Amino acid sequence: MHRIELLLTLLALTFTSTSETCTSRFNITAVRGEPFYLRYCSSASEPKNETAIIKWYKSSRSQGRIELNSSSSPRISLHDYVLEFWPVELEDSGSYFFQMGNDTHEWKLNVIGKSKHNCFAEKQLISKTVEVQKSLHVNCKQNTYYQKLVNRTSLYKNCEKMENNKNPFLQKNAEFKDQGYYTCVFFIHHNGKLFNVTKTFNVTIVGDRSKIIPVLLGPKLNYVKVELGKDVELNCSALANEKDAVYWNVWEENGKEPNVREENITRTRTPDGKLYASRILRIENINEKNLRFSYNCAVASEGGIDTINFVLLKKEEMVDIPGYVFTRGMIIAVLISVVAVFLVIIGVIYRVDLALFYRHFMGKDETLTDGKIYDAFVSYLKECGPENGEEHTFAVEILPGVLEKHFGYKLCIFERDVVPGGAVVDEIHSLIEKSRRLIIVLSKSYMSNEVRYELESGLHEALVERKIKIILIEFTPVSDFTFFPQSLQLLKSHRVLKWNADKPPSYNSRFWKNLLYLMPAKMVKPCGAESEVLPVLSQS
Ligand SMILES: *[C@@H]1O[C@H](CO)[C@@H](O)[C@H](O)[C@H]1NC(C)=O
Ligand SMILES: *[C@@H]1O[C@H](CO)[C@@H](O)[C@H](O)[C@H]1NC(C)=O
Ligand SMILES: *[C@@H]1O[C@H](CO)[C@@H](O)[C@H](O)[C@H]1NC(C)=O
Ligand SMILES: *[C@@H]1O[C@H](CO)[C@@H](O)[C@H](O)[C@H]1NC(C)=O
Ligand SMILES: *[C@@H]1O[C@H](CO)[C@@H](O)[C@H](O)[C@H]1NC(C)=O
Ligand SMILES: *[C@@H]1O[C@H](CO)[C@@H](O)[C@H](O)[C@H]1NC(C)=O
Ligand SMILES: *[C@@H]1O[C@H](CO)[C@@H](O)[C@H](O)[C@H]1NC(C)=O
Ligand SMILES: *[C@@H]1O[C@H](CO)[C@@H](O)[C@H](O)[C@H]1NC(C)=O
Ligand SMILES: *[C@@H]1O[C@H](CO)[C@@H](O)[C@H](O)[C@H]1NC(C)=O
Repeated sequence: MHRIELLLTLLALTFTSTSETCTSRFNITAVRGEPFYLRYCSSASEPKNETAIIKWYKSSRSQGRIELNSSSSPRISLHDYVLEFWPVELEDSGSYFFQMGNDTHEWKLNVIGKSKHNCFAEKQLISKTVEVQKSLHVNCKQNTYYQKLVNRTSLYKNCEKMENNKNPFLQKNAEFKDQGYYTCVFFIHHNGKLFNVTKTFNVTIVGDRSKIIPVLLGPKLNYVKVELGKDVELNCSALANEKDAVYWNVWEENGKEPNVREENITRTRTPDGKLYASRILRIENINEKNLRFSYNCAVASEGGIDTINFVLLKKEEMVDIPGYVFTRGMIIAVLISVVAVFLVIIGVIYRVDLALFYRHFMGKDETLTDGKIYDAFVSYLKECGPENGEEHTFAVEILPGVLEKHFGYKLCIFERDVVPGGAVVDEIHSLIEKSRRLIIVLSKSYMSNEVRYELESGLHEALVERKIKIILIEFTPVSDFTFFPQSLQLLKSHRVLKWNADKPPSYNSRFWKNLLYLMPAKMVKPCGAESEVLPVLSQS
């Protein structure tokens, strides 16, 4: 089988070679830069007149008719019946005459260039049309004239060298991707120079030419959910033949409205040669009227016709979350988080008020079961000198005035509550143990020996045994705590309150609220009869 094919091919080649090696056509096109030849076709019936003189002429508009000889141009060589160009150039265009005795022959040579981005000349193509799945041959067999000179041959597809192509020969079952320009490049050595001759096939792959009965894809009746005011594209798609028509039946009674538009057919081919034709019907800005029609699409060929229908249905609200609902949701979520953050900030700022309110509201009382007597032990500078009289007044008068009389706490003030005599140090220690808080009234001159013990004892209770909590009241501004015991600095800053002697605060002020917050929770009805006015410090 293969041998017979080969034989036939060889036969065909030998047959074509004899007829192709001479140039019988009148209009000749050559590609610039390539070797080229003209060969006179002597009629085989006439024996050659050996003595006849052969002359070649070229006639061009610029130069008129001139006789050619081997020294006319370095690119030209003459061998009896053959005129060779190594290579042919654009200026070689013109009429050529061969004369032998009475015999003359004329050719009209047109030299063309390759386009810049192509390796072949577009006007010099051999067209080849192959049906998909049928055998595709691209055979680089140069005609016999240059055959002996050809050193090497390469095959290019769309000007890219084909890989693994030592044997420049393509044979396969055609696929659509095989379509393209196949260029055979023959490399020829001549007088020490390398030339190349090209031969390019324009290979077109066509679909299976056998006809099918076209079918539309999808169900025969389609319901399409739409929203009024939106656009919709109805896609009518068919497995069809090349020339089959796909169209939408849209006329008045069938839903032709100004907002309904049929688009062009698009055809796509799958690699295995199937052809899909589809046509879109666009309905823009859908209105109620559009919902009443059935949109009908058909594919028609000689073999038959197929139709499908589309009906528009109004989409139920909220089938999926519409954009605006989503936006609203986002806004609400953002608002909620803003409010939450705001509440947290408010909570931090008004922590004290909230805590006091909560205590009051819940009737909380921490003092009932701990077995302690005093709510707070007040530690202050006891020596009542002229320079610390205010501090003394604050500790002995203002503080108990407010905490005891107004808020119902019980304070332990050494000067007032301790019976003179007895071991002072032991006394202080046990009093601190019996108190729930240690209020330290801090001032510059606070650190006397006597109170130092109170302080250290209290700190020990507070920090080591965690039995008492300390409240520091900065009576006069204390710039730094460095001369106090280190452990004092471990107290949290909110346990330090600042007293402003110049503006004695009212009961509702932040100072007293903060102090109450630091004091234990206690259910005591304040004495309503007390005056709301605070005792004012004497300005000394
Ligand atoms: C050669 O080409 C010219 C146009 O280029 C045309 O007029 C003429 O008829 C052609 N001759 C032949 C023999 O094809
Ligand atoms: C063929 O020769 C031309 C010059 O005539 C050159 O530009 C081109 O690159 C050559 N082609 C190949 C494939 O070498
Ligand atoms: C051969 O050519 C010569 C010179 O042109 C001529 O004289 C002679 O008659 C020719 N012979 C034939 C047989 O045509
Ligand atoms: C070759 O042709 C040119 C003109 O094309 C002429 O000038 C020259 O003399 C010719 N040479 C010979 C050897 O005939
Ligand atoms: C053609 O050649 C023949 C001889 O072969 C000769 O008799 C005849 O005159 C020639 N004709 C012309 C037009 O040159
Ligand atoms: C190659 O062939 C195809 C199909 O026949 C054609 O459309 C295309 O124009 C051809 N290319 C050139 C450069 O002539
Ligand atoms: C091909 O070219 C190489 C050098 O490039 C040379 O050696 C070899 O003989 C050539 N072959 C033919 C068949 O011309
Ligand atoms: C129409 O449907 C066909 C087949 O499903 C598909 O190939 C084509 O891309 C669709 N066209 C559009 C515009 O969606
Ligand atoms: C449809 O085809 C026509 C001509 O065939 C063309 O003028 C028009 O631009 C095409 N429309 C679209 C949307 O491609």
